Amino acid sequence: MAIVTMDKIVSLAKRRGFVYPGSDIYGGLANTWDYGPLGARILQNIKNLWWKTFVETRSDMYSVDTSLIMKPKVWEASGHVSSFTDPLVECKVCHARLRADKPEEIKEHQDLHKKNDDVSEVSWTEPKNFNLMFKTHIGVSEDSRTDVYLRPETAQGMFVNFKNVLTTERPRLPFGIAQIGKAFRNEITPGNFIFRTLEFEQMEIEYFVKPSDWEAAFEGWKIQMWDWITKILEVDEKKLKWRAHEKDELSHYSKRTEDIEFEFPFGWGELYGLAYRTDFDLKNHAEKSGEDLQYTDPETNEKFFPHVVEPTFGVNRTVLVVLLSAYTETDDGRTLLKLNPKIAPYKAAVFPLVSNKPDIVGKAKKVYDVLRVSCPVSWDDRGNIGKRYASQDEIGTPWCITVDYQTLEDDTVTVRDRDTGHQVRVAVPELQDWISSRLH
Ligand code: GAP
Repeated sequence: MAIVTMDKIVSLAKRRGFVYPGSDIYGGLANTWDYGPLGARILQNIKNLWWKTFVETRSDMYSVDTSLIMKPKVWEASGHVSSFTDPLVECKVCHARLRADKPEEIKEHQDLHKKNDDVSEVSWTEPKNFNLMFKTHIGVSEDSRTDVYLRPETAQGMFVNFKNVLTTERPRLPFGIAQIGKAFRNEITPGNFIFRTLEFEQMEIEYFVKPSDWEAAFEGWKIQMWDWITKILEVDEKKLKWRAHEKDELSHYSKRTEDIEFEFPFGWGELYGLAYRTDFDLKNHAEKSGEDLQYTDPETNEKFFPHVVEPTFGVNRTVLVVLLSAYTETDDGRTLLKLNPKIAPYKAAVFPLVSNKPDIVGKAKKVYDVLRVSCPVSWDDRGNIGKRYASQDEIGTPWCITVDYQTLEDDTVTVRDRDTGHQVRVAVPELQDWISSRLH
């Protein structure tokens, strides 16, 4: 079986319109990426599926959509101004800046110098803490400027609205506040395509529980996160594992964190995280803002700060995992993306068998127009059928529908399965149901 490399994925992504380099016509801006027509659909499908799974279909979840720019006081209270740092060291040979807490990256850099420049020992500057938040300012002049930060996590939008949600929704513990949105980090070593970028999207839940219930909630979320990635997104379990953070790598707000890691072509890396944030955030915001952010138990009237278990999911890393998992090369050298139909940019493609027969083209257009009302469908009338199949296989379209001479006689079409190449005839009036029954 052919090995999936990052180069193959990056090249397919650009060639077929999944992901382009950011600011491309100006030579690109390192570590920024733009999602093209197909990538934007995958992003949206993942977010919709997540939203449906964890928000829409649950009675204990409240959604918010909060500002990217927040008062600096938020980030002082959350501990990000003082503690959202990575230890930075500089190579004294080439001045490259790396993270001191990533020994494998340090070693790789040293080995490169030893091999290329015949340097026997590479020395480094003393580690210093580098804050990852992007600073910008509000105001028309330097004098009146107010420094602000772009949010490095969506989580604080949930914490600062905890009281608002309590007031407007009157939820009872346990309950969660969820949102999907962008976050920004001035990473020291961004890279590996869309794995570590300066700007990315998170799907996050702050799940509030009674202090004594945190462990049960943590275990419960471990199961729900695992089910999401293995059962709903159908990523191979063998490529996934849980890894508990050591004490010295825990974030400043966390008492316990476990990551779901995926085996990327560059090694195991974090896909999602689950953290026990205690009452750290609510307590600090209450102290700094002077607001009462406690919860009152409606039965006992007891007042306390709820504790928080936080499942967090990176959208962009999910896209990367989905692409890597789907990438397949056939024996005859073609590329096939075995995407889960729920995630695939197009659910079907419609072809007229020939493009010079108005009856066939007209009928195919009608089939296309009817189908695309209920799901995303692609149209292709160029080249021969074999080339059209190959083109759709490469972007992961699960079913190709061909309108041919027989269609004009009995109103059936050929439906070809992407993964098996198997073909069946389906009556045109049944096509919509045929497809939608396979998307659930
Ligand atoms: N609120 C908790 C939090 O932000 P995190 O582990 O720092 O936790 C959550 O980030 C998720 O966001 C990660 O598991 C990962 O999927 C994604 N993520 C973090 N930094 C990223 C980056 N620089 N580029 C792309 N995705 C990133």
